[in-house]
Amino acid sequence: MSLLEMRDIRKSFSGVSVLKGVQLTVESGEVHALLGENGAGKSTLMNILTGVLPRDGGTIEFDGQKLEHVTITQSEKLGIAFVHQELNLFNDLKVFENMFLNREYTNRMGRLDKKRMRAEARELFERLGVEIDPDAVVSDLKTSQKQLLEICKALHLKAKLIILDEPTTSLNNEEVDHLFGILRKLKEEGTSFIFISHKMPEIFALADRYTVFRNGEYIGDGKISETTPEKVTIMMVGESYSNAEVYEKRALGEEVLKLTGFTGDGFHDIDFSVKKGEIVGLTGLQGSGSSEMLQAIFGSTRATAGTVTAFGKSVPHNSIHSAMKAGIAMLPNNRKENSVLPDMSLMENMAISEQTLSAVKLPVDAKRDKKRYDEYKQMLNIKAQNSTDLITSLSGGNQQKIFIARWLNTDAEILILDNPTQGIDVGAKAEIYRLILELAKAGKTILINTLEIPEIMKVADRCIVFYDGRMIKELAHEEINEQDVMLYSVGITEKAAGKESAQS
Ligand SMILES: Nc1ncnc2c1ncn2[C@@H]1O[C@H](COP(=O)(O)OP(=O)(O)OP(=O)(O)O)[C@@H](O)[C@H]1O
Ligand SMILES: [Mg+2]
Repeated sequence: MSLLEMRDIRKSFSGVSVLKGVQLTVESGEVHALLGENGAGKSTLMNILTGVLPRDGGTIEFDGQKLEHVTITQSEKLGIAFVHQELNLFNDLKVFENMFLNREYTNRMGRLDKKRMRAEARELFERLGVEIDPDAVVSDLKTSQKQLLEICKALHLKAKLIILDEPTTSLNNEEVDHLFGILRKLKEEGTSFIFISHKMPEIFALADRYTVFRNGEYIGDGKISETTPEKVTIMMVGESYSNAEVYEKRALGEEVLKLTGFTGDGFHDIDFSVKKGEIVGLTGLQGSGSSEMLQAIFGSTRATAGTVTAFGKSVPHNSIHSAMKAGIAMLPNNRKENSVLPDMSLMENMAISEQTLSAVKLPVDAKRDKKRYDEYKQMLNIKAQNSTDLITSLSGGNQQKIFIARWLNTDAEILILDNPTQGIDVGAKAEIYRLILELAKAGKTILINTLEIPEIMKVADRCIVFYDGRMIKELAHEEINEQDVMLYSVGITEKAAGKESAQS
């Protein structure tokens, strides 16, 4: 008997059917990949299984038991743990307080047993090889640490079935490898996983079986060993898709951005300059400093020394306003915390940056906004009903597409994109690369920070690898390859020999 059997599951939101009788079967001790484009219904099905949302129809059997009206508490008790697509932590609480939320230990006096919770958290982090201080306040953690904390929280429940909804969007390759090691070990001990991801290499490295949904319908399932990334992609998108080369060499303009001795929290002595129309890819491991540096260029984190010059004028440190006035815009890396304006509509969420950034303060022009909204909706294949719907009604990937449109739609001259394609499906990714290249051709200057090296290979004129807060290597477009970038990002500068370390 299977561990989980979901049959004929149906769900509508305000009359719109998003799950049209889907099925999913998970065996004991397997990693099951749940696949589908943005908006296919993956997260919704998991929300139904774990009692976050009620279902309109269908049956669920888990561990030999029929589940009628599932609640969140009941699903946890039955042994189902859920790592949500968006981070679900309380930023003002400490790490260990988040880990034990609603499951606090108390001592004989009835008081919270903080010592025991701290110790248990520390022990779990050590066992899993995760570097997090149990006493740190969550808001001080990096995005990747927050994501690891969410995963640790689920592993701590010792569940029979662990749902991982895009758990690796802000983890680097090293962290992903490490996580997969842990998951494989748990699998051997009999734990099952439902793994949702848009990254094919991860799916093929980890999963045993897969199920594909398209537009709320079940398309098929099978063994990973009996299929290929191309085949499952075609099942997902319903037609052959193009993975064509988009890169084109272009003539670049004059220097528009220059950093000298730029220093701040997590990055030191950064010197580089970028030309008009250039696309620069930045990458590095957790804490390598690339994301921190970009945030400081935009003024959202502190810089302590050095200069940023844009179009020949010095940009004052620590002021987003000054950065925007200098023509710099930024798509930040944590969608839920930094991008979502939850009480606003799709169109308002898309148009906001343009309104705040425009050099000329145009009155809000609803007609023009709607036209642009419609254009981007079609280009990026955004799955949404009405432009007036709340942003929170969209699937994770479709929200991200709105924010990409938000920034592509500004008249800023320098665009900083931090982890732009997190959670974006294969089809839309290709479209986004194409748009980025179009913008560069039109003279925009673009800095992309990403952990996905193939992404850099697709669009960047050059790649800068960060290690330990410094720029360790610059590679021209022709020189960029996954293996070298990986070596540089772990500090090995003598690539072929692998002898010399960058440690100074
Ligand atoms: N609370 C809600 N209100 C209205 N519509 C919703 C709500 N939640 C989800 N939807 C819609 O249901 C559909 C399926 O969304 P779901 O989040 O399950 O997609 P997904 O497969 O997880 O996609 P992604 O890969 O982008 O995360 C989408 O069209 C989405 O807009
Ligand atoms: Mg989802």
